[in-house]
Amino acid sequence: MYTLGEFIIENREKFFYSTEALLRLFSSIKLAAKAINKEVNKAGLTEEIIGSSGFTNIQGETQQKLDQFAHKAFIESFKSRNVVCGIASEESKDFIIIEKEKENLFQNKYIVLIDPLDGSSNIDVNIPIGTIFSVYIRRNTSIQMDLTIEDFLQKGNKQILAGYIIYGSSTILVFTTGNGVHGFTLDPSLGTFYLSHPNLHFPKGEKIYSINEGNYAIFPDGIKNFIKYCQEKKENRPYTARYIGSLVGDFHRNMIQGGIYIYPKTVYFPCGKLRLLYECNPMAFLTEQAGGKASDGKKRILDIQPMNLHQRTPFICGPMKMVSKLEEFIRNYD
Ligand code: AHG
Ligand code: MN
Ligand code: MN
Repeated sequence: MYTLGEFIIENREKFFYSTEALLRLFSSIKLAAKAINKEVNKAGLTEEIIGSSGFTNIQGETQQKLDQFAHKAFIESFKSRNVVCGIASEESKDFIIIEKEKENLFQNKYIVLIDPLDGSSNIDVNIPIGTIFSVYIRRNTSIQMDLTIEDFLQKGNKQILAGYIIYGSSTILVFTTGNGVHGFTLDPSLGTFYLSHPNLHFPKGEKIYSINEGNYAIFPDGIKNFIKYCQEKKENRPYTARYIGSLVGDFHRNMIQGGIYIYPKTVYFPCGKLRLLYECNPMAFLTEQAGGKASDGKKRILDIQPMNLHQRTPFICGPMKMVSKLEEFIRNYD
């Protein structure tokens, strides 16, 4: 069985940047993922993990105890590996600068953007949750200068690594570096990630649509009509509806079984709910690498120029044909 470390070394000629940096990045990600996995698994046993922390984040959302635990686990883990110079997290108002040691000045050139705990409303009810991460090379300022916000506001098409960890019936790390999408399952007894899902790809034949239909009344007409189209008995339809409210869980299922994920703008969220930098860009990179399409309804997610760290966007991703069909509905009705 192939471990993640072996996979990176075997495929080193396919990466456009240092294998050592990639190994260090993954070493941080794996360490934090294992710490979170351990906490998630004992959530039913201890009051320290379930429930609200009593704080709200920058977007006014209640922070769960596990949101804070996951945020800290990733920051600490990245700090210890001398590879990252700055982190922006959904759970922190401003970006975080990682002080570098002088001799490691040139290694610390990676920027990480992270949703430490995705689907936090599902923590207390044993439904899959996840972590989403996105990595860039520092480009906008030179290595001698202090980091600025511009270093974090890069277009998604500049990502060099993106992925997620799903803490579900098993814990799986799924990522892309621009050479396909690969999944590694954690063997909890050994603490090792083994290659279990090489070359993940949206299958032929669409089956599923995923959207919070409880918001139907506040959706734009294009979305309402697309839902009706999904439910029509024609050709290979109706599609089946599946939605658990964890982007990571909904995305993972849709990529394996063939389905579209939609979080549109609504009357209450005129820019959509999901965050461009922490959720949509990494998922869009994975989507394209798995042969799919990711859009805000009109344009490619990866080409959007971010204007601020916590920016939201409408988000649609899935098999190419389904996403193009929905874009057609949006054009015709909105
Ligand atoms: P987070 O827990 O990081 O705030 O993300 C929650 C997101 C996403 O995971 C999920 O798909 C969506 O919010 C669910 O929103 P609704 O409850 O509005 O459907
Ligand atoms: Mn999230
Ligand atoms: Mn989150």
